[in-house]
Amino acid sequence: MQATIKKLLKEKNAVLLAHNYQPPEIQDLADMCGDSLELSIRAADTDADVIVFCGVHFMAETASILSPQKTVLLPNADAGCPMADMITPEALRQRLGQMADMPVVTYVNSSAAVKALSTICCTSANALEVVNSLDEKELLMTPDRNLARNTARQTDKTIHLWDGCCPIHDRLTVDDVKAARAAHPDAKFMAHPECRPEVVEMADAALSTSGMIRFAAESDATEFIVGTENGLLYPLAQKTPGKKFYPVSDKMICADMKKITPQDILDCLTNMSGQVKVPEDIRVPALASVERMIALAR
Ligand code: 13P
Ligand code: SF4
Repeated sequence: MQATIKKLLKEKNAVLLAHNYQPPEIQDLADMCGDSLELSIRAADTDADVIVFCGVHFMAETASILSPQKTVLLPNADAGCPMADMITPEALRQRLGQMADMPVVTYVNSSAAVKALSTICCTSANALEVVNSLDEKELLMTPDRNLARNTARQTDKTIHLWDGCCPIHDRLTVDDVKAARAAHPDAKFMAHPECRPEVVEMADAALSTSGMIRFAAESDATEFIVGTENGLLYPLAQKTPGKKFYPVSDKMICADMKKITPQDILDCLTNMSGQVKVPEDIRVPALASVERMIALAR
């Protein structure tokens, strides 16, 4: 099946992008694996005609926002993000109507319609940089309250919260980290900024998924406790052979990130099914928010 998929990708001038949490067999098929920021930049830059996005729905939408002339395929339509579902454009409009005028920083883990109402997007890799790039002293950050609180601790700006979270990262507790540290006393603990602030406070480093891969590669340490979704264990082991990685807890599994199978990829490429296309009236304002973010990374 791998060979057939590769052949179809070539025939259709398609690129296969996979998030770092995807199952090993999907990452092995991908032209590029990465965190949300890297995948957005690659989706903007590729000259392929087709982007097969192995991640969740908002990631495919972001690719469609950036590359409207390309066909963007999400191989399994059920792959969503529970955090992105914790904010709707209607609810955001209502909140904005009740508060003073201020910029809205929206995590890319959100729908295109929410991005369209926002000033600028951010990812876990650049949230602080994005917040500090604003002239205003006060802002609203959506939808992840943990990312907002973790960012607020590093800036003198006032950050208003949206009460959403990643259910997977939010379930990690201080006791879980204590138990992992006790089991692996020599290991460094890396935490994702979607974790609760009290968990991030215990970390040796708070990083995006690709940030963790770089940190592990560059660190003198040889053992690491991985405070994010357990799919990251695979690229960590691949890219830093000889080092040891321990999941912080075996409850760190995002079911949505495991929905796409090689068969789904084969089917979507064969039938050109699973297209994700953002309508122009949403895409154009959403693009402004995404482009403002990407401009900071260039
Ligand atoms: P990053 O890979 O950008 O750190 O994102 C984590 C995540 O939860 C994506 O769904
Ligand atoms: Fe959404 Fe969390 Fe799953 Fe990422 S890990 S897709 S933020 S639910």
